[in-house]
Amino acid sequence: MAEFRVDLPDAAATQQLGQRLGELCPPGTALLLAGDLGMGKTTLVQGIGAGLGIAEPISSPTFTLINEYLEGRIPLYHVDLYRLEPEQVGSLELESYWEAIDIAPGLLAIEWSERMLDYPASALRLRLENLPSGGRRATLTAVGEEQIVLLEQVIGDGLLADEV
Ligand SMILES: Nc1ncnc2c1ncn2[C@@H]1O[C@H](COP(=O)(O)OP(=O)(O)O)[C@@H](O)[C@H]1O
Ligand SMILES: [Mg+2]
Repeated sequence: MAEFRVDLPDAAATQQLGQRLGELCPPGTALLLAGDLGMGKTTLVQGIGAGLGIAEPISSPTFTLINEYLEGRIPLYHVDLYRLEPEQVGSLELESYWEAIDIAPGLLAIEWSERMLDYPASALRLRLENLPSGGRRATLTAVGEEQIVLLEQVIGDGLLADEV
C-alpha cells in the first residue's frame, strides 16, 4: 500500500488530475472519492470524463444517485451517496456495479464513499481536503503494485507527489 499526495492549487488542477485518471485507469477500476461538500469531487469526475473522451456534460448525480456514460474509452459509472444513510447504501446494490465494471468493463467513481460500509479491497481511494492556501490536497491510496505504477503515471506530469 502506498499513499500519494498531490496539491491542487485550483479547480483546473483538480480537473487535470481527473483527466489523467480517465486516460490511464484500466477497465474494472473502482475509485472511492472522499471529502466534504465543495472539495472538488464532481470536478475531478468531470476531468475523468474528459480523459475518457466523454463529450456529454457530467453533472452531479446527487439526486439520481447513479449516472452512466457509455461513449468513452470505457464506461463511466458516476455515483453520489450524499443523500443516503449508510444503511440505505446497501439497497443500491453496488455489488452488481462491482461486477458490472468487470463485465462492461468500466470505471466506477463514487462520491461520498464515506457512506459505504463495505467496498472491494482493490478499490483506489482518493480523499480531497482544503489547503490553507485555498486550494485542495488530494491523497491517493494505492493497493498493490499495479496501482502504485498507475498512480506514478497519473501524477508523473510535474504535479507534486509524495510516496510514503
Ligand atoms: N483544487 C481546487 N482549488 C480550489 N477550488 C476548487 C478546486 N477543485 C475544485 N474547486 C472548486 O470547488 C467547488 C466545488 O466543487 P465540486 O466539484 O462541486 O465539489 P464536491 O463535488 O466535492 O462537492 C467548485 O467551485 C470547484 O470549481
Ligand atoms: Mg459533488
